[in-house]
Amino acid sequence: MTSPIITVSDPVHSSELLTLIPRRGAIASLGLAAMAGVGMGFDQSAFAQNSSPVKPSPTPISPADMGWDPAAKQYVLPPLPYKYDALEPHIDKQTMELHHDRHHDGYVKGLNKAMAMLAEIRSGKRDASEVKHWSRELAFHGSGHLLHVLFWNNMAGAPDGGGQPSGEIAKKIDTDFGSFKAFSDHFQAAATNVESNGWGILALEPVSGQLMVMQAEKHQNLTTWGVAPLLVIDVWEHAYYLKYQNKRKDYVAAFMNVINWKAVDRHFTAIVAATKHG
Ligand SMILES: [Fe+2]
Repeated sequence: MTSPIITVSDPVHSSELLTLIPRRGAIASLGLAAMAGVGMGFDQSAFAQNSSPVKPSPTPISPADMGWDPAAKQYVLPPLPYKYDALEPHIDKQTMELHHDRHHDGYVKGLNKAMAMLAEIRSGKRDASEVKHWSRELAFHGSGHLLHVLFWNNMAGAPDGGGQPSGEIAKKIDTDFGSFKAFSDHFQAAATNVESNGWGILALEPVSGQLMVMQAEKHQNLTTWGVAPLLVIDVWEHAYYLKYQNKRKDYVAAFMNVINWKAVDRHFTAIVAATKHG
């Protein structure tokens, strides 16, 4: 079986993180220009001039969505796609400010640091014995950055947030889980019961073409390699503690009111088209 790990063909845009995004090995390499149609709605014009013609990627995450600066070869914290108070009353403004401006920014800075240190190891400026440490830092901060980008973009305030899905993702949920309620109950139970910090994830497993609900402990400990995350909920305490304290179940239930199902459907259909499942 081919490796599910992305390979980035354009060295100008390559980075350690992009090599970690799981995907089907046979799919074309990730690039900037082709992502416009499957991006998550961020303004991608800032990086468009650096684009090169490449085939579409199955991931809905573009380098611009990720804040990748190809000139500096670093990531910058992408802005939220809405105002800090857009998800009130379900997710409060103060939590969003702290979560995005402090926690997410910390992952971006940690990712850049890890990439820089690994580059120094490759060039001989640092000892190879540091690879283990900086590889862990890369996985931790890189996975955290990727999942937060997904998280912000799979939420929306009224009137777009919450309710039930429509489109292809709605049909797929019915087919694979039996009903939206069965999915919702499973998803909320998985997210509520993540051991310590982590994530609840709805993902597409591209080999079988099946949807799956999964848990990820911390950021980097995924339970299944190769999946494409479609919908994620952050259940680290920093995501909810100010408003919900230890009542994670209430936060998870409130999250269901801000899911942007139109965005999830766009991600799903783009990935299905690229992996030829559906
Ligand atoms: Fe978080």
